[in-house]
Amino acid sequence: MENREAIGVFDSGVGGISVLRELIQIMPNENYLYFGDSVHAPYGTKKLEQVRALTIENVQTLLEKGAKSIVVACNTATSAAVAVLRKMYPDLPLVGIEPAIKPAVLACPGQRIVVMATPMTLCQEKFQKLMQQYEDMAQIIPLPCPGLMEFVERGDLESEELHKYLTELLWGVQKEKIAAIVLGCTHYPFARKMISDIVGKEVAIFDGGNGTAREMRRRLMVAEKLSDAKECGSVEFLNSRNTQKEQELCQFLLNH
Ligand code: DGL
Repeated sequence: MENREAIGVFDSGVGGISVLRELIQIMPNENYLYFGDSVHAPYGTKKLEQVRALTIENVQTLLEKGAKSIVVACNTATSAAVAVLRKMYPDLPLVGIEPAIKPAVLACPGQRIVVMATPMTLCQEKFQKLMQQYEDMAQIIPLPCPGLMEFVERGDLESEELHKYLTELLWGVQKEKIAAIVLGCTHYPFARKMISDIVGKEVAIFDGGNGTAREMRRRLMVAEKLSDAKECGSVEFLNSRNTQKEQELCQFLLNH
């Protein structure tokens, strides 16, 4: 029997498309419904209650449109709302993303690992607990990056202004040797190349997109909700800023 319901993917804006790419790579025959809340972005500098309410509302929109499962493809929204969402929808295959500290620590034990994320993600208890879990195994350095997601929201992945922003941001943590960088916000993989050019190719860069996609596949398998279609699925972009420009940006980032 064919099951063509969509996997719902949510982010505060266009960053979650970095996770959508990983989902499509491992489950090309699924349909996807992506919702970006660009009108209210950034989430990472807002109040916790506000991010929680916006996340719940937008996940509900995806469910009303028929999503069979939800990926919260936003580290900030995950830390603010995923526990509440799990209580609200106990039977829903629901996966949130969190900074990929574990693979970075396993690859670079005892070394300096920088975690780039939004101020809100780094302040939350969820992140503090994650850091405590690994702090005996490596030196973990949180680096808040207010302002970085806005470049991606503008589709700016290559400008001199972005280069200057990143150079200044990373200058302090680079005074001592870094072994790895964890991209703890789904917008940042779009700036991965520039970050790598600045810190050097020897610094390993991790993000949680692939792990999140694999976890969604596992959950769907357990729930017997994986599509058995033979052909490639579709991708539909919804955005609270519903303009042609936003649609074009989403397509551009998906193909990037
Ligand atoms: N993409 C979001 C994340 O993964 C955050 C961007 C924002 O500040 O809204 O944390």
